[in-house]
Amino acid sequence: MPIRAWFPTHIYCEPLQKSGRARFNADLADECRRLRDFDAAGRRWSAKNYPGGYTSYASMNELHRFSSTFAELEKKFTRHVRAFARTLDMDLRGRSIRLTDLWVNIMPPTAAHSLHLHPLSFISGTYYVTTPRDCPGLKFEDPRLSKFMAAPPKLPDARRENKIHVTYPAEAGNVILFESWLRHEVAANRTTAERISVSFNFNWA
Ligand code: NI
Repeated sequence: MPIRAWFPTHIYCEPLQKSGRARFNADLADECRRLRDFDAAGRRWSAKNYPGGYTSYASMNELHRFSSTFAELEKKFTRHVRAFARTLDMDLRGRSIRLTDLWVNIMPPTAAHSLHLHPLSFISGTYYVTTPRDCPGLKFEDPRLSKFMAAPPKLPDARRENKIHVTYPAEAGNVILFESWLRHEVAANRTTAERISVSFNFNWA
């Protein structure tokens, strides 16, 4: 083949666990809602920075240290992150990886999450807890977008690897991992129900 693709962008999507997802997520959703009731500082921060929604990102972002439910999630996430790092050929021999932040996001109808990345970590991800039918997915942007300059637009039916955006559906029970520099966003929740997710960052040392 005269032409080969180089420098791909990897996105990982797998069920968190093989069985027991419905029960696990029902309990987790309860805990996320209790956290929102308890976390007045988070509700205040969200009112300013996450209109209509609730996130514990700025108030309680080390939930794995304070709750056995989230500590259990940390263990499960760590296994997935190790698998992802292996496919990226990251050299973690003699090095350790560590979950640094873990927080809850609740998006009621109309709430959205604008384009962002996750600084100071190497792999980030989201786990879906409650995903009403037709709720928004996770939209990723081609990281080279700012470098395209004079490039013409892509065909509407461009091959997967040539598209400049991809949206992963939010499906309860799935974990999505990406390298933390990859920008992403969540469109407005146009359903009539809450969408609940848990997000996290990993670092290495
Ligand atoms: Ni994010």
